Amino acid sequence: NPIQPPELDKCGVATNAANQKPVEFSCCPPVTQRIIDYKLPPVFQMKIRPSAHRVSPEYIFKYNMAIDRMKRLPQDDPRNFLQQANIHCAYCNGAYDQPGQGTLDLQVHESWLFFPFHRWYLYFYERILGKLIGDPTFALPFWNWDNPKGMTMPPMFVDPRSALYDEKRDPASLPPAVVDLGNTQVTDPLQLVANNLTIMYSEMIRVNANVYDFMGQPLREGGKPKGGGSSERGSHTSVHIWVGDPNQPTREDLGNFYSAGRDPLFYCHHANVDRMWTLWQYFLPSNKVPDKRITDPDFLNAAFLFYDENAQLVRVTVKDCLDNLRMGYDFERIDLPWLDYRP
Ligand code: C2O
Repeated sequence: NPIQPPELDKCGVATNAANQKPVEFSCCPPVTQRIIDYKLPPVFQMKIRPSAHRVSPEYIFKYNMAIDRMKRLPQDDPRNFLQQANIHCAYCNGAYDQPGQGTLDLQVHESWLFFPFHRWYLYFYERILGKLIGDPTFALPFWNWDNPKGMTMPPMFVDPRSALYDEKRDPASLPPAVVDLGNTQVTDPLQLVANNLTIMYSEMIRVNANVYDFMGQPLREGGKPKGGGSSERGSHTSVHIWVGDPNQPTREDLGNFYSAGRDPLFYCHHANVDRMWTLWQYFLPSNKVPDKRITDPDFLNAAFLFYDENAQLVRVTVKDCLDNLRMGYDFERIDLPWLDYRP
């Protein structure tokens, strides 16, 4: 059977995976009785998510204003900035058990739930920001770390006066440091760029012999995660580690599941992870994986709960998030220099 959505009223203490200690604050969302089955609204105008390195001052201003308003919402509003961050903690640090499965944790990493869960998470985050600034076309930026032009931390997140700033980041990773997609500890920038392109080619194309190699292994009700896909395990995790601060007890913020959502850069990073899914589905040569769809009902009917932009609790399913265009957003077109970067 498919993974069932959590029971919010049974949300408990989360565990910091890095030291196995309880997380010191509660990451449980407010409890609401009424749950609506979410229906994707009709798309009137496609939102285009921009590359974070290419946005205009006007965009940065709007984005700042939106995040600032999110931070100022009442603490118990599920759309509040910290409430949004806690969604990640609750779904990823054992605060929820799988309904009817004893104390078996609900976990959305290291399986085929990885892309769908994070896609829905960003979807509502983006809609909340749009609502807060009265701009339904607002689209999150993506951190284009797969392109040499985007391999540094996007400047708008680094200004300490900005709402997009977070002090818990590795000082060694601030610009002009080049991102390390392979967690290699290499420091020579040219070497890093070459490594990064090789890694992208490898995880997007070379290593994927079937759909699960990219998407992650099946996870069904009552089961435990059996392994994430190439992108999740590779560039995705490396960027988390690269940004997280080694001077914090457990690499907060981005280097730890429970705290990752507290850095606004998380959503920009994940917008590019989400873009990798779209590129893989619709833009990559498919000789090795001719059918990129998973038709297993345990995948399609897996469900999660989120608060939407009106603070209404909604139930969403994996099958409704397989096509980003149906969800009303697309990505700015940027070339893919790793596409034929064979080692
Ligand atoms: Cu839920 Cu990038 O992790």
